[in-house]
Amino acid sequence: MVGRAERLEGEVALPADKSIAHRSALFAALGDGSSTLHNYPESADPQSTLACLRDLGIQIDHSGNVVSVEGQGLEGLNRAGGHIDCGNSGTTMRLLAGILAGQAFNSVLVGDRSLSPRPMDRIALPLREMGAEINLTNGHAPIEISGGHSLNGITYKLPVPSAQIKSCILLAGLYASGTTTVIEEEISRDHTERMLGLASIGSDGERRISVKEGFRIAAREWFVPRDFSAAAFFMVAGSIVPGADVRLDRVGLNPTRTALLDVLRAMGADIQVFNESEDGGEPVGDLFIRSSELNGLTLSGGIIPILIDEIPVLAVAGAAADGRMEIRDAKELRVKESDRIRATVDNLRRLGAKIEEFDDGFAIEGGTPLRGAEVDSFHDHRMAMAMAIAGLAAEGETVISGASNAAVSFSGFWDELAALVQ
Ligand code: S3P
Repeated sequence: MVGRAERLEGEVALPADKSIAHRSALFAALGDGSSTLHNYPESADPQSTLACLRDLGIQIDHSGNVVSVEGQGLEGLNRAGGHIDCGNSGTTMRLLAGILAGQAFNSVLVGDRSLSPRPMDRIALPLREMGAEINLTNGHAPIEISGGHSLNGITYKLPVPSAQIKSCILLAGLYASGTTTVIEEEISRDHTERMLGLASIGSDGERRISVKEGFRIAAREWFVPRDFSAAAFFMVAGSIVPGADVRLDRVGLNPTRTALLDVLRAMGADIQVFNESEDGGEPVGDLFIRSSELNGLTLSGGIIPILIDEIPVLAVAGAAADGRMEIRDAKELRVKESDRIRATVDNLRRLGAKIEEFDDGFAIEGGTPLRGAEVDSFHDHRMAMAMAIAGLAAEGETVISGASNAAVSFSGFWDELAALVQ
């Protein structure tokens, strides 16, 4: 249950970045020797990646949020004893599928009720083009991967801007002959190429990222910065609650992740960035957020993929803003942990917002006062957290069913929120 907040004050302890955490664990497992992951998150999705790697024979030890991984090199994974359970994590499933396509043994990847219906043909098609044998069930998980096929490098233009598809192909490319190149016409998050140091060439409105046969991953220390996508909820909360003064320290500010900062500022938000530096190869900084009057705006095209996970909470900012917010070209939202267009429209309508649904987005006539109601997480962590922020701005009580789903990416979310409300 969330009530209306008159004032928010304090510093929020944000979780470490989920996207970077998954990759650090996978790259450490495929690395030549022992790697240490610093600031590894407790949230469910990154823990699913560790569990999958253990199933594949990798020794992993925890001491607080420091994780040691005994990397076995590219050829050191072992056949799992049963199905490999990716839980709720699409990134785990899609990236691991790329790795497993290049192994000598068979694997079956499964997921929970939210992951199971998500589209997997988008990775099966390029992996098959590389020579892998992959069987899906009506385009979804379980993903059955038959090992022992030699893979060949391909050049693949992404049909949808997706860092998960890009990363899946590049990871399969570690096992392929020749060069594997992914072409993206719209930029998606660049953690895989940045962390592995892959060649990335941009020209004529596209980027080509390549990995060559013989590439090895060195054992090393990885530092996981705090998650900008988790910060997003408090950036919106601090902007829309009247007496807010919120501080978020050492947040990851990779430019392929931070579009929400520019968008909120363009809406009139008062967000200052201080102490910009680098942590483990990723830009970081401290954010200070104060309440402000927001105005709606229209967004479409190339900004959408680098804003995609933040759109549910951006819609909450739109409902609190003056004027119209319109989001287009965001059909990918329909195949996330929930159908995030449907879920956002349905929930904000229940709270009294004027919102219209499109096939590829929505439009909100902002400024209608929100009133507390019962809303649903739709088994989606980001929906649970976005609705909590909406609840801070709504009159009365907002009850979120499935609120505990927040723990998929932010295990301390509810405690942090409670501590901030004065
Ligand atoms: C992610 C990529 C995005 C994002 C997801 C994490 C990643 O998905 O929505 O939360 O870590 O690569 P797509 O690649 O499907 O766009």
